[in-house]
Amino acid sequence: MSYSLASFASRDALDRALCARVETILQAGIEDRGQAFCVISGGSTPLGFFRLLTKSDLDFSKVTFILADERWVRPDHPDSNEGAVRRHLLQGPARLATLIGLFQEGLDIKANAVSSDQIVQALPLFDVVILGMGLDGHTASLFPSATGIEAALNLEGSASVVAIQPLSAPNARLSLSAQRLIQTENLILHLTSAEKLAVFKQAEACQEAALMPVSRFLNQSKVALQVVWAP
Ligand code: 6PG
Repeated sequence: MSYSLASFASRDALDRALCARVETILQAGIEDRGQAFCVISGGSTPLGFFRLLTKSDLDFSKVTFILADERWVRPDHPDSNEGAVRRHLLQGPARLATLIGLFQEGLDIKANAVSSDQIVQALPLFDVVILGMGLDGHTASLFPSATGIEAALNLEGSASVVAIQPLSAPNARLSLSAQRLIQTENLILHLTSAEKLAVFKQAEACQEAALMPVSRFLNQSKVALQVVWAP
């Protein structure tokens, strides 16, 4: 499957275009099925997009956001993706949306992965999945050469949520698996900086997904990858 690349002159222009695109997709899902499901990522790249989306006039009571991954920390921890999404996205009108986080208090990480897997398995096809990427070619929390990464990247695999211990990043992680992330009609990779674009181009040539997990989302035939980028 090939991919499309839309380049924008600035991060603000990119955030505005991405927000408009996601609004259109979610509105169509609400009109067609009465609800819409949007997978979002952590990190700093999406924060401008989140702040714009909070101002949308979508009926957020019919929108469910699902975290693509989580650093396995409590929501009040500074590294928590859930905490960041609650601070930057679930504000204003968007506070009416549902958020499916991954961290569950009182469980060890393996039990947490099993419990979150059951929750995510029960969800329908996602209307849109928005992924980020690190300079090591990870996406979500699918990290290069991490223990279990082969299974997490297996598109014939059964797990929807996996526990991952990155070799090159803090915190144990929970992540949606590659096979679950591509169960969407709109797969978007949100990138900024020349460095990340160069890493993405390397991933294009990468034949071993375990070394650059983002390449798995390029080399699959289920859903076209839409890359949106600004310097
Ligand atoms: C996370 C994200 C991760 C992120 C990349 C890029 O938990 O950190 O889900 O996959 O998208 O690490 O992070 P930045 O946007 O901060 O560069």
